[in-house]
Amino acid sequence: MQSVMDRDIDHILVSEEQLKTRVAELGTQISKDYAGKNLLLVSILKGSVVFMGDLMKKIQRPVEIDFMKVSSYGSGTSSSGRINILLDLHRGDLSDIDIVVVEDIVDSGRTLSYLENYLRLKGANSVSCCTMLDKPSRRQVDYTPKYVGAEIPDVFAVGYGLDYDERYRTLPFVGVLKPEVYQN
Ligand code: IMP
Ligand code: MG
Repeated sequence: MQSVMDRDIDHILVSEEQLKTRVAELGTQISKDYAGKNLLLVSILKGSVVFMGDLMKKIQRPVEIDFMKVSSYGSGTSSSGRINILLDLHRGDLSDIDIVVVEDIVDSGRTLSYLENYLRLKGANSVSCCTMLDKPSRRQVDYTPKYVGAEIPDVFAVGYGLDYDERYRTLPFVGVLKPEVYQN
């Protein structure tokens, strides 16, 4: 804990060691659940890239990867929760493909609820989600991710891919920012 980034962290929520253990468990579980399937892991940019990089190494079977990027508007106060797709999959036929969307965190649930429906409409054989973190107390739509690394309380988490204003993504653990970082 020497760097400037580390000094902004109030406390660690999920340690590097805990992340490593949990990611390996998730990889093993997904490998079992998708045996004999054409599994496609879809990482949602940018927050899930660190998790994706670790998780894909723990899938003990042939697997393809791809990326999507979305922007969401109005999480807290807006009731629309509109999602824009900024980068889409470029596959024609998804009918034989089982997709696991890899996400950093599920908060209101709007992004994943929308994305799962979208990919089903595009014709995927099945769509589910593996999120590293889940904040179930923040849910605004009825959505339950299939795979969850860790449930966390209603705090703003950074690290392991998660950012605050594009910072802290490279921290190897998940932590909570000190309040003064927001106030400045
Ligand atoms: P939602 O589930 O549609 O509300 O959106 C989830 C997205 O909000 C995530 O992919 C993150 O980009 C962002 N987000 C939600 N909570 C946090 C947090 O605690 N730290 C960093 N980003 C967050
Ligand atoms: Mg995200």
